[in-house]
Amino acid sequence: MKKMMLRLFIKLTSMFFITILLWSCQSATIKFNENNYIAHLKLDTSVLVATEIAHDLEVPWDLVVDHEGWIWFTEQKGSIKRVHSETSEIQKLVTIDDVFYRKSTGLFSMALHPDFENSPHVFVHYTYAITDANLMDHIFSKIVRYTLKKQQLTDQILILDAIPGRTFHNGSRMLITKDYKLFLGLGDAGGGTNLTQNNQVLNGKIIRINLDGSIPSDNPYPNNPVWSMGHRNVQGITFANGKLYASEHGPITDDEINIITKGSNYGWPNVHGYCDLASEKAYCKDSIIVEPIKAWTPTVATSGLAYYNHTAIPEWKNSLLQSTLKGQSLRVLNLNENGSEVTEEHILLQKFLGRIRDVTMGNHGEVYVAISNLDWHPGHQPWMYDSLPTSRGDRIIKLERANDAMLDQLTQIENPIELTEDAEAYALPSEDWGFNATDDELLSGQNLYMVQCAACHRPDGKGNIGQIPPLVNSEWVSGDNQRLIDVMLKGLSAPIIVNGVEYQDEMPSYQNLEDEEIRDILNFIRIEFGETNGNIIAADVLHQRKGLQ
Ligand code: HEC
Repeated sequence: MKKMMLRLFIKLTSMFFITILLWSCQSATIKFNENNYIAHLKLDTSVLVATEIAHDLEVPWDLVVDHEGWIWFTEQKGSIKRVHSETSEIQKLVTIDDVFYRKSTGLFSMALHPDFENSPHVFVHYTYAITDANLMDHIFSKIVRYTLKKQQLTDQILILDAIPGRTFHNGSRMLITKDYKLFLGLGDAGGGTNLTQNNQVLNGKIIRINLDGSIPSDNPYPNNPVWSMGHRNVQGITFANGKLYASEHGPITDDEINIITKGSNYGWPNVHGYCDLASEKAYCKDSIIVEPIKAWTPTVATSGLAYYNHTAIPEWKNSLLQSTLKGQSLRVLNLNENGSEVTEEHILLQKFLGRIRDVTMGNHGEVYVAISNLDWHPGHQPWMYDSLPTSRGDRIIKLERANDAMLDQLTQIENPIELTEDAEAYALPSEDWGFNATDDELLSGQNLYMVQCAACHRPDGKGNIGQIPPLVNSEWVSGDNQRLIDVMLKGLSAPIIVNGVEYQDEMPSYQNLEDEEIRDILNFIRIEFGETNGNIIAADVLHQRKGLQ
């Protein structure tokens, strides 16, 4: 009898504690209010609440969730931070000094060691530059490894170096599988067939290495990190259903989601999307090209990719979550049972948060998205974006299924915003990529040139041989836009050679001029003296200015 009483007592107390535990777990998820509530999203049966967990960020590129519920993120300029999913506390873990940040270069993707609790390592991929005597930046990228010690990332170790880079199309997205293989999706660095179809270079490839940088013996080509080829710019990668999925940016047509298999060729630049045009059919007949499981035309700019298989949001079970930049939306792609086909697409959050750079799933089936409105593209393509929400900087947003308590809480929100799925992708304002200085801008450039530059470089741009270098026929004027903008912002004092003659006087800095004034002067000298195009835009100057800070 006594024993039974004791058992009952234990049972009752443990039930009591379990109830308390469940209650406290529940209350931990009731964590939104007027301050962090953004909107709620109605799916078929579930309601998702969107809350802001971090703001005033600058281009958060990659999101990774650890076992303690920290959401790690890289920022393109070079910092790695983490924000806690429950408390929203932010910790800055490291600033990487040698990150080269211009336009779409910088710090990109990262991955945690699969056994992070015992091996607290994080792997990151970023661009760096080597500047030569003529101030030309030669861009490369590398993978390094850090170790987390007392809330700081230290002990940088080089894992893979000297991946050829460019100011655009450097990828990337990283993934480490349970068998300790690191996959990295890279871009074509603007190169054509000679790069993407050549297995001896890493551009336009998905590569696979061991965590110490060595090459797995079962890679398709001996002693070569290349795993698959023919990619344009891979920015999404995820592993599920025993398959590796990757998404990549197409040009004006055909963003793609592919199932990546060992040694396969995905066709870029000879095949865009499916083998459906006459020329593509011919090419696909001669070479074995793997076609995508999904392609978008017009393009949506596919960035981060995640796989969702949690019970928390039943509508999303066995789906790929694709974040899109230009498409300004989250695409939910339901898969068939074995994950080989996309059966349905749902367009969510469209034109609500702006450009979505990455998406990842948390430990309890909640989802995080990284917003990327402060990156180079919105400014660079003003014709493509009527407006982007930037007042709170770039943000990380959490989406979680509302339980009863949260549904109740929703009724108390003063200005609720209810979102639903969109039936169609919004029409882009324009897909016009051509741009050139207008006549008015050139006239302003000419006037500014006469006031600011002509005293030294002369009205005809011929300079004074041996003292002031000419702008006519100068490869500084007709060459790299960014170097030219740098000359204006920083001035020049190191000896330089122009048309075979050395100069070593000083060229003053013009950083006090407005972005538009610098644009006009440079477009004027490029067209007038360089006989080349005037395609510098103010956003390029602004971006360069920011990069120099
Ligand atoms: C005070 C004289 C002076 C003025 C004013 C001046 N420059 Fe220069 N500029 C120089 C000198 C000297 C160099 C070479 C610097 C060196 O050797 O490092 C130079 C170099 C350059 C170069 C690179 C070399 C070449 O010849 O292509 C460019 C481009 C240039 N200047 C453009 C401009 C523009 C545009 C302006 C007006 C906004 C301007 N400069 C105003 C003196 C001047």
